[in-house]
Amino acid sequence: VRVAVIFGGQSAEHEVSCRSAASVFRFLDRSRYVVTPIRIARDGRWQVGVDTGPDTADAIVSGAGRPADDRSPIGSLTEALEALKSVDAAFPVMHGPYGEDGTIQALLDLAGVPYVGSGVLASAASMDKEFTKKIVAAEGIAVADGVVLREGDDEDISPEDKARLGLPVFVKPSCSGSSVGVSRVDDWADLPRAVRHAREHDTKVLIEVAVVGREVDLSVLQNPDGSIEVGPALEINLKSEEGFFDFDAKYTSGMVEFRIPAELDPAHLELLSDAARRAFRALGCAGLLRADFFLAEIDGRAVPVLNEVNTLPGFTELSQFPQMWRAAGIEYPELLDRLFTTALA
Ligand code: DAL
Ligand code: MG
Repeated sequence: VRVAVIFGGQSAEHEVSCRSAASVFRFLDRSRYVVTPIRIARDGRWQVGVDTGPDTADAIVSGAGRPADDRSPIGSLTEALEALKSVDAAFPVMHGPYGEDGTIQALLDLAGVPYVGSGVLASAASMDKEFTKKIVAAEGIAVADGVVLREGDDEDISPEDKARLGLPVFVKPSCSGSSVGVSRVDDWADLPRAVRHAREHDTKVLIEVAVVGREVDLSVLQNPDGSIEVGPALEINLKSEEGFFDFDAKYTSGMVEFRIPAELDPAHLELLSDAARRAFRALGCAGLLRADFFLAEIDGRAVPVLNEVNTLPGFTELSQFPQMWRAAGIEYPELLDRLFTTALA
């Protein structure tokens, strides 16, 4: 099977994507797959590399000083499209805007290349937290109360909204990943600064109540026949009482502990798994999804509150998604097989 692995990209998660891709290159079984690596540099230029085995991502990144045939994204894209002509499927191992948001997916659709993961609409809706919340809420899945500030809106919110949300609140760019641009606000005086920080990543910003509850991720995998499975739940335990699962906690070893399977009441696990399945279907996802929840207590009942979804979740061998499937007995190389087999089905 001839596959293209596309990585890097123009989002703030460029580096994370390179790390995810490094694990993909390490574990793709070369006796089954002929691999074409394609990197998108931070400036949007595309670069078709050669497969040098486990170190492919690093080799391409370190050799990236060479200018491509053309300094513009469009010129180098021509070369990438030429390479995509001869593959059976692509895996966009991309996180964040310009990769996880439907843009690459649209290009692959137009080029007629099957790919791992969700299509254009599901990717776009899942990248944008305002739309994600609206779609899953319409399915009866709980989401955090919040206020949306659109382009041109003031950096502050009304006294009524402040009274309703209470402190602390989380301020987030609507489209972003890995908590980039997210801050926790414990004093309303700090809100405008947090909004400006979020706006460095997206003009639309969400201000949300802090949901109190255990942080639990669920992973969904689609089989080649279209059916979906939910893997073992993962609980995120921060080592420190301060802060939240932010960029540093996500990528600094030792700041967080994952418990897989999470120790959950079977009835609560069923509620979470059902919500993950319904979110996958409501958003129209394909291939894979990681759905991140808080298990809150509302009026004495346990309620999964969907925090966000990731159509292309972190994919290093230590990331949540591969770890959850590993706990289900599916090792990383087999996980890659599943994803490509489903993409090609
Ligand atoms: N956005 C990062 C990669 C994640 O969801 O794991
Ligand atoms: Mg995310």
